[in-house]
Amino acid sequence: MSFPVITIDGPSGAGKGTICLRLAQALNYRLLDSGALYRIVGLKANQAGLLSDQPSAESELSAKDEDKITQLVNHLDIQFIPRQSGEVDIIVDGISVAGEIRNETVGSYASIVAALPKVREALLQLQQNMANHSGLIADGRDMGTVVFPDADAKVYLTASAEARADRRVTQLEQAGQKANYLAILKSIQQRDERDENRSVSPSKPHEEALVLDSSEMNADEVYFKIKAFCQTKGICFDQ
Ligand code: C5P
Repeated sequence: MSFPVITIDGPSGAGKGTICLRLAQALNYRLLDSGALYRIVGLKANQAGLLSDQPSAESELSAKDEDKITQLVNHLDIQFIPRQSGEVDIIVDGISVAGEIRNETVGSYASIVAALPKVREALLQLQQNMANHSGLIADGRDMGTVVFPDADAKVYLTASAEARADRRVTQLEQAGQKANYLAILKSIQQRDERDENRSVSPSKPHEEALVLDSSEMNADEVYFKIKAFCQTKGICFDQ
């Protein structure tokens, strides 16, 4: 038996996380946050001394590093534990890492290891298995193009780099943290450049995807547009 899959791809800060959680709650589907997987691998690679603390856009990892990072991936015990709220706790080797991976530095580590073909290959099956037990909302960059090319509904949610940096600043300030708009914008642009131009699984819309620019939209508008699109693809919402 196969379960429905909805893929939501796009750059970070476009609002995918909020929309995916809302869809997962409305449909009672599981949520795959594939970015978290790459963030975990990036963090572990840094902790293992395979990635420097301040990686630059030019960071080049050798084939030997790629093999070591892939081995590291193959030995990780990653578990996604759904919470009542619909959010998912990420447990790696028995320890929750959800808090530790949500910052721009780990985002940069993630985008460097995500360009390694063997690392992507090692994470492929793990991601596909998530659709074996229930409907799935898959959040990432290559969910519609590579991981779930037969997904029932595919969406590519984007926004200008400036709008995404603005949102990130607001988020950090609301959490009582300092935020430097220009530094955040630069980091977002570097990450976009790496994600969109890498040779394996570059971030891009599937040809059948609904492409939505959320720069001038609020979360409700985005949600209802995506919901209506999913309904045209035969996905049934009770609420
Ligand atoms: O979405 P998030 O910002 O958490 O993703 C972190 C990084 O992981 C991205 O910048 C991207 O390089 C990588 N990623 C990816 N493929 C995915 C999800 C994330 O390459 N499916």
